[in-house]
Amino acid sequence: MSTPRQSPLGSALALAMALFPLAGLAQDAAAPRSVAPLPAELPDSGEPTPPSPVVADEAAGTPGLDADFGIGRPATAEEIAAIDIDATPDGQGLPDGRGSYAEGKALYDERCVACHGENLKGIPETGGPALIGGRDTLAGDKPLKTVESYLAHASTLYDYIHRAMPMDAPGSLTPDQVYAISAYILGRAGILDETAVLDRETLPQVRMPNAEGFTADPRPERL
Ligand code: HEC
Repeated sequence: MSTPRQSPLGSALALAMALFPLAGLAQDAAAPRSVAPLPAELPDSGEPTPPSPVVADEAAGTPGLDADFGIGRPATAEEIAAIDIDATPDGQGLPDGRGSYAEGKALYDERCVACHGENLKGIPETGGPALIGGRDTLAGDKPLKTVESYLAHASTLYDYIHRAMPMDAPGSLTPDQVYAISAYILGRAGILDETAVLDRETLPQVRMPNAEGFTADPRPERL
């Protein structure tokens, strides 16, 4: 079927006419409404369709789980392990390894000092925030959020450094190095002493100053 070409002015008029009755409808909710009838069945376009994600065992209650979309492949155990690195407050997910304050100081001076400063109070020009200080300031006029003042669990520090720092090479630190740097930062914060050695057993036992500063999630079953 061929349609006559419309001038831009004709298109604008058609658009206005299409919109105007709608505005009228909005004012008069009782006006009758109509819709175009849907075709009973769409004509077959001949295009290939992807396989349905709903598999035959839907009745068994697991629709889609075994679906084959024809792309990708299952991740290998090594690939999953490489990104399954989260550590929880009770120590789950923390890897083997250990590190001391002294080792951490050497690493910090090499990998972190440029952005977080020798005194760990941050270097604004680099965007590196203060890591220590600010204790008990969170409820005041000038809250200073740092590892020392804010974090409720030492595992968050471990997890964050392991995953995201140093900012110019995230993921490049070994577990030993992350334990060591965590011990150094917590030592400089006055939370641990300089003889501290952290590993998967001792790190979850660290008591953070703001441990009680959070409201418990009222829906633990959702986590
Ligand atoms: C190139 C600059 C740079 C380097 C190097 C660097 N950081 Fe950072 N760091 C940042 C920036 C910027 C942020 C803030 C990121 C944000 O808020 O998203 C940050 C945030 C952090 C935080 C979170 C602080 C908070 O209170 O939320 C920690 C902990 C941290 N860095 C530790 C380290 C450690 C440990 C190293 C060395 C292994 C390191 N960083 C190296 C730039 C850097």
